[in-house]
Amino acid sequence: GAARASTRLQTVPSALSTTEPLSERDAVTGYNNFYEFGTDKADPARNAHKMEVRPWTVRVEGLVGKPRRFDIDELLRLAPLEERIYRLRCVEGWSMVVPWVGFPLAALLKEVEPLGSAKYVEFVTHYDPKIMIRDVLDWPYTEGLRLDEALHPLTLLAVGVYGEALPKQNGAPLRLVVPWKYGFKSAKSIVTIRLTEKEPATAWNKFAPQEYGFYSNVNPEVRHPRWSQATERRIGELRKRPTQMFNGYAEQVASLYQGMDLKKFY
Ligand code: MTE
Repeated sequence: GAARASTRLQTVPSALSTTEPLSERDAVTGYNNFYEFGTDKADPARNAHKMEVRPWTVRVEGLVGKPRRFDIDELLRLAPLEERIYRLRCVEGWSMVVPWVGFPLAALLKEVEPLGSAKYVEFVTHYDPKIMIRDVLDWPYTEGLRLDEALHPLTLLAVGVYGEALPKQNGAPLRLVVPWKYGFKSAKSIVTIRLTEKEPATAWNKFAPQEYGFYSNVNPEVRHPRWSQATERRIGELRKRPTQMFNGYAEQVASLYQGMDLKKFY
């Protein structure tokens, strides 16, 4: 038979990768949160095929010197694609080790020249009521970072996973990955990136402000009001592991929060 066209992405390895064993590909691509396609973990893999991811435009706007629209294929050539193996800790208490493919968000922000007045970055994701659910959250899903968090070298715009383009259920064609924060900060299928002066509203914070704060840093010492965050279960394992401060990335990111009360800014 004809050889299958290779869909491998060209990548360079990253010094920022963890050396822990990867989670199973089937778990990463089959056990998902992408509520627009349903609230069951298997729903996104079943339903996300309805989403068209080409053509796809990402607008970068707000407090920038050079607002621009980028075609997704332009974005794929913006910077060398890296393979970044990161721990992902979900607020629900499970974790995975995922080999993302992407480039630093900082490389994109540099292109648009943030103004001195820009303090935050808002992410708005794709919403199409014809193929996505209408209830649960106030759509479109939005997320936000402080500008210094957005510019941190660990903050990744992912376009692939396991060496290939992102499956739709993982947020094709472009999703955020912020490894020291709970997984819900990693907005999927991004269409707008907006630099702002004020802290942007976020979908989960609007839904339950006392449960989901703006920062959402992984923190074993700050409980979710309904459960402890001190331990986690790595998908594929039975025993529980202790959750690490900033998901194990404290050395790289703790300085961003110096002097802040992380119980108050959860
Ligand atoms: N992005 C959008 N647009 N909609 C969502 O429901 N869920 C978040 C985040 N990004 C979500 C989203 C949550 S709760 C998690 S844990 C991660 O995506 C899951 O990413 P994964 O399915 O690729 O592991």
